[in-house]
Amino acid sequence: MSQSVHGTWANRWLFILAATGSAVGLGNIWKFPYITGENGGGAFVLMYLLCIALVGIPVMIAEVMLGRMGRQSPINTMVGLVKRFHAPVFWAGIGWMGALAGFLILSFYSVIAGWALAYIPKLAMGDFQQATGEYAAATFGNLLASPQTLTLWHSLFMLATIFVVARGVNRGLEAAIKWLMPLLFVLLFVLLAYAVQTDSFSAGVDFLFSFDFSKLSRESLVIALGHSFFTLSLGLGAIMAYGAYMPQSASISKTIVVVAVLDTLVALASGMVIFPIVFSNGLEPGAGPGLLFQTLPIAFGNMAAGSFFGVLFFVLVVFAALTSSISLAEPIVAWLVESKGWSRLRAGACVGLSAWLLGLGTVLSFNHWADYTLFGKTFFDCLDFLTTNIMLPLGGLLIAVFVAWVLSKQTVADELRMGPPALYNAWRFILMFISPLAVLAVLLNGLPFLSTLIGQIKSLL
Ligand code: PHE
Repeated sequence: MSQSVHGTWANRWLFILAATGSAVGLGNIWKFPYITGENGGGAFVLMYLLCIALVGIPVMIAEVMLGRMGRQSPINTMVGLVKRFHAPVFWAGIGWMGALAGFLILSFYSVIAGWALAYIPKLAMGDFQQATGEYAAATFGNLLASPQTLTLWHSLFMLATIFVVARGVNRGLEAAIKWLMPLLFVLLFVLLAYAVQTDSFSAGVDFLFSFDFSKLSRESLVIALGHSFFTLSLGLGAIMAYGAYMPQSASISKTIVVVAVLDTLVALASGMVIFPIVFSNGLEPGAGPGLLFQTLPIAFGNMAAGSFFGVLFFVLVVFAALTSSISLAEPIVAWLVESKGWSRLRAGACVGLSAWLLGLGTVLSFNHWADYTLFGKTFFDCLDFLTTNIMLPLGGLLIAVFVAWVLSKQTVADELRMGPPALYNAWRFILMFISPLAVLAVLLNGLPFLSTLIGQIKSLL
């Protein structure tokens, strides 16, 4: 099959934009800075970069390739490939687990994107004029304390996601992505120019790039690896679904390297914007999930035309999140359309509504349920850990093993047409040994958490 029933990207650039749209999102702008802050900076950043290079990019190439070979939703793509290559049925589980992970992530992703939505009117009304660090922290605290407000913005974001998903690949996804991604890059540049002028720019850059290995723990390695999957949208079929809409003539490996580099640049740029502001305002780098929301408003409140840039920035964050959230929903929506014959609208609405409901748990975990914890993790932290640090790496591991060990060397070489055989062999070697071992090492670390979680769920039933 050389085309998918859901449509095909008009050209290679649109695939790059779409995949970058999926990859660049809250993971880069919100999550990367805050987990870097929590994990001590430089050494963590280095681990993250290594994970992207040694695990992320090779697995991403494999995942997109599976999608293009199957040309269907990730679930049916895997079922089809299993039949075609006479592999054991359990490999089809990659598709199912991924669809579930996408659904779980979507539930909390929408709540966080809702925070960014909530900041748009605040900035528009000049709430942060001349704001101090304390003021910004208090404003954020007030937002989290109100489940009603959080639910309102969460609902709006989920509706927007359903709307775009329902319009389909060409009219919905492409149209949104074409304009918004480039604009986001430009705005990050403007902010970077502001950060360079603050007196703590070098302190911020130092924090990001000076490698103090004493700060590196096993837990932070797990987080770095998990995040490299999260930020590249790997291991759950999102990028596999997009691969299914990729033109046959495009080179997968070259394309993927472009996407991964863009994604990494956005993350590093966000860090270089946020940390100087943290240090010049006496804030804590380890402030946690609120970091973005407690730092940038200060910058906007103290720069010329700050309200304008502030509104524009949060609008773009919301759009970056939207181009990611639609890809979280895509695997399961595409499956419902293919296998159940549902319309995109019905599938999108059904997935969106269910994820919205689950998202209420995340909303409450920042206020009424803040004290219910497992291993010191709230409901939101648990979902985040379970998906990012267990399900995505496991999905990535299975994809790597399936492509490197189950499919024949020739089949894969024919699909990828990577050019120099040495390059192909190097990639295959990494995929056969290095990526799986790295992921396995990290997964074993997550096991105690998983067994306690399962025990807890059993005791509830
Ligand atoms: N990569 C997205 C981000 O960084 C999140 C995402 C994860 C999207 C997994 C799709 C699949 O925000």
